[in-house]
Amino acid sequence: MKYEVLHLLKENSETFLSGQLISEKLGVSRTSIWKYIKSLKEEGYMIDSSSKKGYRLIVSPDALTFEEIKKYLNTKYIGKKIIHFESINSTNDKAKELAEQGADDGTIIISEEQVGGKGRLGRLWCSPKYKGIWLSIILRPNINPMKAPEITQIAAAAMIESLKEFDINAKVKWPNDIIIEGKKVCGILTEMSGELNRVNYVIVGIGINANLDKGDFSKDLLDKATSLKIEINSNVDRKALVGTLLNKFEYLYKEFQEKGKIGFSIKICKDNSAVIGKNIKIIKNTDESYAKALDLDEGGGLIVQYEDGSVEKLISGEVSIRGLNKYI
Ligand code: BTN
Repeated sequence: MKYEVLHLLKENSETFLSGQLISEKLGVSRTSIWKYIKSLKEEGYMIDSSSKKGYRLIVSPDALTFEEIKKYLNTKYIGKKIIHFESINSTNDKAKELAEQGADDGTIIISEEQVGGKGRLGRLWCSPKYKGIWLSIILRPNINPMKAPEITQIAAAAMIESLKEFDINAKVKWPNDIIIEGKKVCGILTEMSGELNRVNYVIVGIGINANLDKGDFSKDLLDKATSLKIEINSNVDRKALVGTLLNKFEYLYKEFQEKGKIGFSIKICKDNSAVIGKNIKIIKNTDESYAKALDLDEGGGLIVQYEDGSVEKLISGEVSIRGLNKYI
């Protein structure tokens, strides 16, 4: 009921709505309305209250709740449920916990801050409060577990396409980084629970450095990481970006679900690749080797050619790549 009150206020933000009118429209007492308004104010909504005129919504908080994101969403099931936290250890870990308990396909876990955000290969992911977008998507695809890493390419493509809607050109640093001018703005961590031939669930964790300032990054990250705000010199609308990302993701993921293919995503990742055609360093555990990145195959593997002429397909797993002298 609280969000029905909010809905009414949002629809009528030009005028005051009296407590009497809200109570008649929603069929609840004026005391209840007052309590809902108090609770909305606690959530960060700025509501003008006047004993004579009633209530008027002035500002909605910059919060990544379902209530704030839904107007940007046109999905069928991705993001129809968004579970929002002010602070959490890791949205991926929470998503796993909820998936184990039976959470629906397409449920989103999102947090304003992560105190134990996880990156790939056991790294930490810096996730300061209200500055970024830290979210995880719970998926229940009916696929062979070997195909789960392809979902990372879908998320990368969805991210590239979303940023284009904000006039931001970014590139994919295979397999899971989105970069601008050689620095990382977004990372994807796909995790899976399954058996040999069956997937229980897949968690796609996406971390976007949206409105971080230089001071939010540790010194050692500054030459490798950046934020959208730093790159475009203004804040991005986090709510609109989340909505756009989920819309694009659902669209691209549909191809995977229906045809078991990711052709659209691969095309986007190839067209916007930061590595294809470049000489790269390949890091597997502690081994380093040098090769030229040639292409992406239809499953999102990176085809490379070593200095001795041999060609190999890399699958994301435990591999990292770097440019020859810098991050990429
Ligand atoms: C990487 O580039 O190493 C992957 C980073 C993934 C970070 C996101 S933030 C939301 C989700 N929850 C986590 O703990 N990690 C992912």
